[in-house]
Amino acid sequence: MTIRLGDTAPDFTAETTEGTIEFHQWLGDGWGILFSHPKDYTPVCTTELGRVANLKGEFEKRNVKVIAVSVDPLESHKGWINDINETQSCTMNYPIIADPDRNVATMYGMIHPNALDNLTVRSVFIIGPDKKVKLQLTYPASTGRNFDEILRVIDSLQLTANYQVATPADWKHGEDCVVVPAIKTEDIPAKFPKGFKEVKPYLRMTPQPDL
Ligand code: BEZ
Repeated sequence: MTIRLGDTAPDFTAETTEGTIEFHQWLGDGWGILFSHPKDYTPVCTTELGRVANLKGEFEKRNVKVIAVSVDPLESHKGWINDINETQSCTMNYPIIADPDRNVATMYGMIHPNALDNLTVRSVFIIGPDKKVKLQLTYPASTGRNFDEILRVIDSLQLTANYQVATPADWKHGEDCVVVPAIKTEDIPAKFPKGFKEVKPYLRMTPQPDL
């Protein structure tokens, strides 16, 4: 199945290392990240899952729940968690979905057979409080993801959702943002009291509004 930005994230019921979940209910009213990894007891995946556990506080600050998935069974996930904790100096603190029948993987198009036979590639779905897909990323098995970048994207998405700003190339937290084209220049002062700079009529910059 092809999922596009703006589509409702497919709902499912699945076994996880923290019990059975109904995905939409589990997400609640906040943001969510569903990310797949190819296989338990593999090196890159071990580092990724540990990194996400160590970033839990950063995700919580942003009201984001995180959940991992792979096609390995629950007992495998449970055993592997000990290795993740031991080698990545973390305590696993979010669920891993066991998807041996590839139900979730198929729903989300996480299996790319020409890249990796019958295993999930490294997919990331960021889901908004409205359950719509806000971002998707696909990485090959050989490249571990940059979770600082994923936090950066969440900051950008949340700024857009809350303040009608976009973020320019290579934007980092604290830097100026772009006023979205839907706002007329004459309406900017009322909406952005910190001021703005009109570089071009279509390129209006304003300080990051939530600081
Ligand atoms: C890894 O996590 O290191 C990995 C998993 C599957 C294929 C290649 C690498």
